[in-house]
Amino acid sequence: MSSDKYSWSHGDTPPVLEAHSLAKHAVLRSYVRRYIEVLTSNPRRDSLNLTLVDGFAGGGEYLYGGRSSPGSPMILLEEVACAQARFDTERTKPFRLTADFAFVELLKPNLDFLEHTIQASVYRPLMNDAIHLINASFQSALPDIISRIRSRGRAHRCIFFLDQYGYTEVSFNAIRTILTSLQNPEIIVTFNVDSLIDYLVEDEAFLKGVKPVELSLSDVRDMLVLKGQREARWLIQNLLYQHVRDKTGAPYYTCFFIKSPASHRSYWLLHISKHPKARDEMALRHWALSNHFVHHGRAGIQMLGFDPEKDINQIPMDFLFDDDANARAKSALMEQLPRLIFSNAQLRANPPTLGSLFTDICNDTPATTHQVGDVLVKLRQETEIEILSEDRRPKPRSRQIGWNDIILPARQRSMLSTIWPPTIA
Ligand SMILES: C[S@@+](CC[C@H](N)C(=O)[O-])C[C@H]1O[C@@H](n2cnc3c(N)ncnc32)[C@H](O)[C@@H]1O
Repeated sequence: MSSDKYSWSHGDTPPVLEAHSLAKHAVLRSYVRRYIEVLTSNPRRDSLNLTLVDGFAGGGEYLYGGRSSPGSPMILLEEVACAQARFDTERTKPFRLTADFAFVELLKPNLDFLEHTIQASVYRPLMNDAIHLINASFQSALPDIISRIRSRGRAHRCIFFLDQYGYTEVSFNAIRTILTSLQNPEIIVTFNVDSLIDYLVEDEAFLKGVKPVELSLSDVRDMLVLKGQREARWLIQNLLYQHVRDKTGAPYYTCFFIKSPASHRSYWLLHISKHPKARDEMALRHWALSNHFVHHGRAGIQMLGFDPEKDINQIPMDFLFDDDANARAKSALMEQLPRLIFSNAQLRANPPTLGSLFTDICNDTPATTHQVGDVLVKLRQETEIEILSEDRRPKPRSRQIGWNDIILPARQRSMLSTIWPPTIA
């Protein structure tokens, strides 16, 4: 499913970057920066060992608005260098960021262009030492990359950026292999869901093509049935979303769209991790770059999932990570969170914390801990809940709700609480 949308040839000018790819680069840059910030925030720590894998590296340079714009491998190099420069100026104790880079590219001319780009940059001294250029398909390079990460220590801190053109080059088996072989992997992968929907057909070639993403004949038939219905795209996206979640075994993930104004199509930027805080950080990047992202789903919890019998007339409005989306997310959470808190308080031996509540809902909401925290503050003002610090001291006024703060139904609840949930007197 590859195409020559971007190609690089040494001596020629680099390809022109599309606006939606600029947004993708901005998310990558901002996420890697935040990732390093979070992992180095403990002042007692004096080193971080990190591997950055660009599985579909390209040539490392584009033109945008007539000027040079870095490709994803250069962005990874720049962010590590910037972080090290910050440590050198801001810290009194030396901090060593040891990063290893694996840049995989199938096409030799593209990889040659990348090599020249790096050789001509300040990163030249890292070549062949910290930077590994691999001329292969990502799939075939993966086992060696995993072995190398495992040989670099036990924490396996790594980010895989897998920027395929379509949706079949990153197999679900590869995602499961990364998740099961490494302790702390994070995977950012593009998935051109709209292209899959456009070309959906029940024939041998298509079925062979979608094998890496484990779509069976019956999955394809189910989607084709939906294709004839109103709101077909939304319904199929929903089905595919559940498929991706179930088949990859992703513990925590975001799955929102990058808008492509040029093609009027969108593709998913999936982020997969083993930690809810990583999921929160990625969703925060979407909110920060709001005008480039869209979520075709609900604003609160249960953002996707549908019952064709019931929901076909209730397709939610597009959610653009803007002020309106923020207001809609908070209003939905104001309604949904109390139910969760009440049932949590009833069902669990330990009362819920912001962290446990967020962990329960994070895969199923476009909201972040910021919005959940704001809603908890509002619920406290409305005497629905009480918030206690980790050591069980009441926090009657604080607007900052910590990950380990405890959330309880208020002892003296408002009128609303007598209406729901009905099982609580
Ligand atoms: C979308 S471009 C990557 C752009 C790059 N990530 C960036 O943002 O600057 C996809 C690249 O992956 C390469 N490619 C295609 N199939 C591949 C595969 N199976 N394994 C590795 N590279 C592949 C293509 O030649 C192309 O250079």
